[in-house]
Amino acid sequence: MSLLNQKDDSHAFPITGSGADEVLERINELKSDLPSRAHGQFGLYAMEGEDSVQEFGEQAYRTFIRMNTVFSSVLPGLAMIEDDLQAMCVEIHNGDRAGRANITSGGTESIYCALHAMRERARIERPEISVPEIIVPYSAHIAFSRGAHFLGMKLIRVPTGDNYRADATLIEQAIGSCTVGVAVSAPCWPYDLFDPVSEIAELTLSRKLWLHVDACVGGFLAPFLEAVGQPIPEYDFRVPGVHSISADLHKYGYSPKPCSAILWRSEQEQKFHYHACSDWPSGPYLSQSMLGSGPAGATVAAWAVLNHLGRQGYEKIAEKIVRTKEKLTAGIEEIDGLSTWKTDTASLMIISAGLDIHEVTAGMNALGWVLWGNNEPPLIHLTVDSTEDDIIQRFLADLAQVADSLPAGGVHAVPKTGIYGTGISESEDHLPRWVYDAWKLIETPEQKAGD
Ligand SMILES: Cc1ncc(COP(=O)(O)O)c(C=O)c1O
Repeated sequence: MSLLNQKDDSHAFPITGSGADEVLERINELKSDLPSRAHGQFGLYAMEGEDSVQEFGEQAYRTFIRMNTVFSSVLPGLAMIEDDLQAMCVEIHNGDRAGRANITSGGTESIYCALHAMRERARIERPEISVPEIIVPYSAHIAFSRGAHFLGMKLIRVPTGDNYRADATLIEQAIGSCTVGVAVSAPCWPYDLFDPVSEIAELTLSRKLWLHVDACVGGFLAPFLEAVGQPIPEYDFRVPGVHSISADLHKYGYSPKPCSAILWRSEQEQKFHYHACSDWPSGPYLSQSMLGSGPAGATVAAWAVLNHLGRQGYEKIAEKIVRTKEKLTAGIEEIDGLSTWKTDTASLMIISAGLDIHEVTAGMNALGWVLWGNNEPPLIHLTVDSTEDDIIQRFLADLAQVADSLPAGGVHAVPKTGIYGTGISESEDHLPRWVYDAWKLIETPEQKAGD
């Protein structure tokens, strides 16, 4: 039972503690089973940037590792850092001085905050609505489904257009008397494509609906890609009608996890976010996000990394990402049976007309690589970051070898699926117990069809 050499194996929680050295040694042993940094470069360790930046972020994190964000009102240094970090995030997304932000634990929480604010505004301004509805394209992150569930909202996912981007006409058709908002992605995770934010903003503005833009993955990359010459459609506060934006510092912001920002056009939007309450014995309780206690280290590290890299630092990285993506694309296009499709920012999608792409993923996993993908359509999703040439070459050589080893025409009628398009199924024996428990609750395609 015990992962350590405990004599009494009948308890999960030991009666007698183990020495610090012994525990740390065991952690290091467990860590040694992890895939290498190179093998996780396009998935597991993606969006980490250079080691020196990660190490700097960790150093900054440690300075405030014992502090709690819920106490920033008594920690003047932390309060200044919070204010400054929020201001930087608003500025990067072209908000003006009226713009506001809150720091959260990740993209999912930022999305929950946006949904909650939409719902609160509707409660006040449209009290006749009992179940507020929100419309998103099918490609929107799963956090919208979970958030809507937790908040008692109804989420309507409408199909994307033929180009896999949100389709304004389908969104317009789905708007009904209980619609309180629309959310689109800039870009979405599954395809790395921007939804037509300006077009959809015209729809929402004229109907006084809340428009949220999910820039979790692209929020700290797209602005710098734009600066190095890659055309990026307008998606931020420059677009009239955008009420809120989610943008993750712990993705291409290169901050240690957990850290994201939820941005508001102004105090007018942010006021629907706060739940300021005092109905308990200890007086007013203010929290800037859904959580109570939070890691001050993450906020401080994000602030430190943004200041350390500065705009020019992020632009330099963006330039390197563009080069990495070009090299990968050229190499993949040379492999028989595989091709890529055009994406808007850094991620690269590998598809195949003749091979079962999840078998390719499985083959690469067997060689030590950790890759994510999609089930619909089946593809490999490479999360590209600035990468050394030797890793790119190793990756391409292994990919060519795997593709070559698979039978052409091996596409299954029902493609293999699995967590995050990895092909990993519940039959694996290394998953944590909670995954087995939660997995049982996922509706099978047959159950779904019976709805
Ligand atoms: C577009 C998008 N939105 C939201 C999220 C959720 O972010 P997190 O995993 O930080 O909760 C992700 C994560 O990849 C994402 O890509």
